[in-house]
Order: sequence, then structure tokens, then C-alpha cells
Amino acid sequence: MRVVVDESVCTGHGRCYALAPEVFTPDDYGHCALVHAAGEVPDALADAARLGRDNCPEQAISLFE
Ligand code: F3S
Repeated sequence: MRVVVDESVCTGHGRCYALAPEVFTPDDYGHCALVHAAGEVPDALADAARLGRDNCPEQAISLFE
């Protein structure tokens, strides 16, 4: 699974990295950054990635499975 965050849409709500810190992490400004290089998430963390996506109020997170 590949995770993409639209930086122009993320406003720093922080729900993604609060709920799924295995996948998402805050950058220096509290916006969403990705734990895994190029957003490539191992299968074992797919549910965590979906949880983060589903809880972003801005719908800034996209998943490609
Ligand atoms: Fe940004 Fe949404 Fe996370 S606004 S910090 S991607 S919950």
C-alpha cells in the first residue's frame, strides 16, 4: 500500500498521527509526515493507514492499494 498526503490540504488536525503513529508522524509544524519512505506501508500496517485516512477531517490522505 502506498500512502500520499496532500500537503496543500493538510491543516494539522493531527488525528492521523494520534491514531496511527506507526504510519503518520508530525513534522515541525504539526502537519502530517510519513514514517515510511515514499509512503510505502507494509501490509501489516494497512489498517492503521486506513484509520488515519478515515479520520482526517480535511480528507488529505489518499491510499493506493
Ligand atoms: Fe493533516 Fe489530516 Fe493528519 S489535516 S495532520 S492529515 S488528520
